[in-house]
Amino acid sequence: MIKQTQKTPPILYVLFFLSMVFQLLEGLLITGYGESPALGGLDLEKVEMGDLSRSDDTSIMHLPDDCLAMIFHDLDTRIDRDSFGLTCRQWLHIQDFNRRSLQFECSLTILHPSSLSTKGSDVHTIHLHRLLRRFQHLESLSLSNCRELNDSGLTRLLSYGSNLQKLNLDCCWKITDYGLSLVASGCPSLISVSLYRCLGITDKGLETLASACSSMKYVNISYCSQISDKGLEALTKWCRQLQAVKMSHCESISGVGFEGCSKSLVYVEAESCKLNPEGVMGIVSGGGIGYLDVSCLCWSILGDPLPGIALSSCLKILNFRLCRTVSDASIVAIAKGCPLLEEWNLALCHEVRISGWQAVGVYCQNLKRLHVNRCRNLSDNGLHALREGCKNLSILYLNDCVRLSSAALELFKFHRPNVCIKEIEIMCKPYWEFIDTG
Ligand SMILES: *[C@@H]1O[C@H](CO)[C@@H](O)[C@H](O)[C@H]1NC(C)=O
Ligand SMILES: *[C@@H]1O[C@H](CO)[C@@H](O)[C@H](O)[C@H]1NC(C)=O
Ligand SMILES: *[C@@H]1O[C@H](CO)[C@@H](O)[C@H](O)[C@H]1NC(C)=O
Ligand SMILES: *[C@@H]1O[C@H](CO)[C@@H](O)[C@H](O)[C@H]1NC(C)=O
Repeated sequence: MIKQTQKTPPILYVLFFLSMVFQLLEGLLITGYGESPALGGLDLEKVEMGDLSRSDDTSIMHLPDDCLAMIFHDLDTRIDRDSFGLTCRQWLHIQDFNRRSLQFECSLTILHPSSLSTKGSDVHTIHLHRLLRRFQHLESLSLSNCRELNDSGLTRLLSYGSNLQKLNLDCCWKITDYGLSLVASGCPSLISVSLYRCLGITDKGLETLASACSSMKYVNISYCSQISDKGLEALTKWCRQLQAVKMSHCESISGVGFEGCSKSLVYVEAESCKLNPEGVMGIVSGGGIGYLDVSCLCWSILGDPLPGIALSSCLKILNFRLCRTVSDASIVAIAKGCPLLEEWNLALCHEVRISGWQAVGVYCQNLKRLHVNRCRNLSDNGLHALREGCKNLSILYLNDCVRLSSAALELFKFHRPNVCIKEIEIMCKPYWEFIDTG
């Protein structure tokens, strides 16, 4: 690509690659290269540039790889790093060696049901094999939405997956338990795995993964319809640093698989799950839960399974949206038991009545955001109780409460001018992963 003549002073090479503007456009996105360590220890004087330039057969091309790697780490922009890699084969290896994350164009398409049916550019086994051989030190790999990729695409992880901490297989429909067993064998350092809508995986695959990757902290199994409490049990048993689990729309999960989970478990998203009372006790059994979403609870035959939540005294954000059967007894217990609660979504909880609202008013003194949209049993007295209590409230999400009079609403506004009343339903959702692999 670049002809090098013996006479060019080495420093010009540096200036040259710094100013080159080449783009690598292979449908491949260049993301981070990890933390760039300071250029500590690399003192250009010590390399004796003066001497180098006088000698005919010595040049910057003779710098050892670790020095080049240091220079590479100090390049700030993607353009500079690409230019560096395009200088020569050796420098390209330095660049490849330092790539930490890889993600594909198909992963960027927003996962709308409509986009799921259109066939985008996909990543095939052969591409992935080549790329994994080229970038052998990846810490983060996203294959989400690679719908053509099958288990054999993952075989190279056996050789090159040992540094991988974060793997996203969202909507990789062809991946099965066998694929997960390859990940389990190849990627012992895995911290985060996302398997959203991997319809081919079962409890067996999750068990294999959990037993091999015991450092896992973040696990997304939302819409994995074949996963049940048995899979969760394996996660609970092997992954004692587990922090967050997303399992929305896993209709075979009751929650009992969490029984005995570690205190590190702080985040559980279980929208539209069939939780039962024992399952709820299981989820809170570790004692660390701070964020819990049990919205759209779809198991109402047994009545209200939620009173056990009162045991999670660290709880800060609680989502009960569309839990139509949640009773006043649960609301009272939780209001008393969870004094740190800052946000509580009770939208469409029609069975919450006056004693429930009174308990919220009296006990939820840290509550900042409360959602009561479309609660059919929020009466004027209920709103009065909220008005008199909840001293820290700053936002009340309220609309369509059929039993509220406009006079009661005006009184609320008059007595609590600092509370902002919003009609649009928005729920605060903290980011579930706090790791950053660059
Ligand atoms: C996986 O896909 C490749 C094509 O990308 C195909 O050659 C191979 O037979 C498939 N393997 C299995 C197990 O289906
Ligand atoms: C995890 O699951 C949710 C659904 O709860 C999904 O929207 C999200 O994109 C998934 N993937 C990641 C990497 O968070
Ligand atoms: C509201 O409360 C009344 C009694 O106060 C009850 O009969 C009714 O079922 C509750 N729920 C709804 C959705 O109205
Ligand atoms: C309201 O919140 C602040 C912190 O934001 C806290 O210091 C204060 O004690 C709370 N007020 C009440 C009445 O608990």
